[in-house]
Amino acid sequence: MEINKVLITDAVDQACVNLLKENGIDVSCRYNLTKEELLEEISDYHGLIVRSDTKVTAAVLAAGLKLKVVGRAGAGVDNIDVQEATKRRIAVLNTPGGNAVSACELTCTLITTLARNVVQGAASLKAGRWDRKLYSGHEICGKVLGIIGLGRIGREVAIRMQAWGMKTVGYDPIVSAEEAKKFNVQFLELEEIWPIVDYITVHTPLIPETAKMINSKVLAKCKKGVKIINVARGGIVDEEALLKAIEDGRCGGAGIDVFEQEPPTSPVTLKLIQNPKVVATPHLGASTSEAQVRVAVEVAEQFIALAKRNPKYTSTAGVLNHSVLH
Ligand SMILES: NC(=O)c1ccc[n+]([C@@H]2O[C@H](COP(=O)([O-])OP(=O)(O)OC[C@H]3O[C@@H](n4cnc5c(N)ncnc54)[C@H](O)[C@@H]3O)[C@@H](O)[C@H]2O)c1
Repeated sequence: MEINKVLITDAVDQACVNLLKENGIDVSCRYNLTKEELLEEISDYHGLIVRSDTKVTAAVLAAGLKLKVVGRAGAGVDNIDVQEATKRRIAVLNTPGGNAVSACELTCTLITTLARNVVQGAASLKAGRWDRKLYSGHEICGKVLGIIGLGRIGREVAIRMQAWGMKTVGYDPIVSAEEAKKFNVQFLELEEIWPIVDYITVHTPLIPETAKMINSKVLAKCKKGVKIINVARGGIVDEEALLKAIEDGRCGGAGIDVFEQEPPTSPVTLKLIQNPKVVATPHLGASTSEAQVRVAVEVAEQFIALAKRNPKYTSTAGVLNHSVLH
């Protein structure tokens, strides 16, 4: 594949630029382009690398007269029109494994933080109070964690939370009970999971089957006080239903890193974020120095492999629309 000139439009770690240049690929970094500027700029490039800010719309793909590949340094490709790219025979690739450990660690942090009211207790002490009784929590050991989605991140979460003494149960349509057993997760159907879990954490993509998967009906089937974690994608948990369940005490709290709209502006989301039982972070799942370097290197390696510029790099494992390669 001809990839001589690459445009990077979101702040990707310098490791990406360095690796591409070392392999003879010309790179331009142009951040914060307006839609119009991007439409004009893109016509000259064979490759485009983005994170989540740049919207790679049908119009951008149409304007990319020489465009062969769009790379997402990270996992979610919600900001790229993959269908249109496929139609135009433009490869789209991501770096799905690069931030799995970081997203997993934030998930585990939210679980343990919720159990011990760490955020609320710390804020109260900073405000000059000494509210020991108010912030008494519960142990994680012996509690049941329901993991929805047993892919890369879901199984890493399982392994770590087992070390805290949690019993892990889970569901994934493409993972067998036998496979789940290998990482000590008891495979159950969703209807069996809801009534027995103390915590639910979702690790699926946002697709029609998972949109608002955690909704008022599901929350009504759970034990009183169940806690919900979403470090996957906004929209998998129905925010309005979650807020209502927290307000009426059915849900004991939530740890949320991703929102239906980002940055959030809807009154429901803002109310949810402000709720004292909610610990919310601004989409920090992949925001570690390690993950940023890893995804930057992985995206560059795949560009080099596609361009066949260095026999050391052959993997294009992140390509999402394989048909365009043939
Ligand atoms: N917060 C962040 O910054 C951040 C960082 C990395 C990844 N993520 C997100 O985390 C999620 C998981 O990422 P991953 O790398 O583990 O993905 P993955 O593809 O490895 O695993 C996802 C799993 O979800 C399963 N799944 C699909 N539909 C399902 C359903 N209806 N019910 C149950 N399971 C279902 C799939 O079969 C798959 O095994 C993705 O949405 C990803 O975008 C978020």
